[in-house]
Amino acid sequence: MKRKKARKWDKRYSKGDHTAESPTNLLKKWHDKIKKGKALDIACGAGKNSLYLAKKGFDVDATDISKKALEIASKRSNKKDLDVNWIKDDFEKTKLPCRYYDLVISTNFYLKRDIPRIEKAIKNKGWFFYKHHLDIENFNIIKGPPKKYRFKPNEIKEDLKNMEIHYYQEIRSSGTSTPIFELVARKE
Ligand SMILES: C[S@@+](CC[C@H](N)C(=O)[O-])C[C@H]1O[C@@H](n2cnc3c(N)ncnc32)[C@H](O)[C@@H]1O
Repeated sequence: MKRKKARKWDKRYSKGDHTAESPTNLLKKWHDKIKKGKALDIACGAGKNSLYLAKKGFDVDATDISKKALEIASKRSNKKDLDVNWIKDDFEKTKLPCRYYDLVISTNFYLKRDIPRIEKAIKNKGWFFYKHHLDIENFNIIKGPPKKYRFKPNEIKEDLKNMEIHYYQEIRSSGTSTPIFELVARKE
């Protein structure tokens, strides 16, 4: 099953899908509000957010199930002379250290069942940045994951048990191809 999942993503990356280089807006807006330190990028893909964090002085672990995605990411880091610890792994099985990261980030990856262990892996006063897709009734979704891998409006806020929310926004204008939310939360 794990191999099948990895192969599906390898194929997409081989075709050039999901290889945009520009970091997520959330990161551009928020990175300088937080202290530089250890960061984890979950399901990092071709590394757009990991590389940005490394450039800004974070010490970055970046994990993804796709070998192809990590090859692209690693080539990019070599070219830019940036150091990132690229880790090939199935995040469902990844063992996370306790109270270790100053920042955990993930974009476009469904983390519903993983929130408790992510909260544990973040240091006290550490941060969680998360952007993902929403499931909104009657919205004509053109791209992104199927309904079962989307959050309902405000659902992620209920899932966070040990974090204070500093920013939460749902972006669902009719001009967008998929509704999303952006979240910035801090461990108490
Ligand atoms: C839509 S892409 C998002 C990539 C990147 N975060 C971005 O925003 O460009 C989803 C990523 O999740 C990875 N992925 C899927 N299942 C995974 C798993 N079980 N463990 C780790 N990574 C996984 C895929 O390989 C892919 O890179």
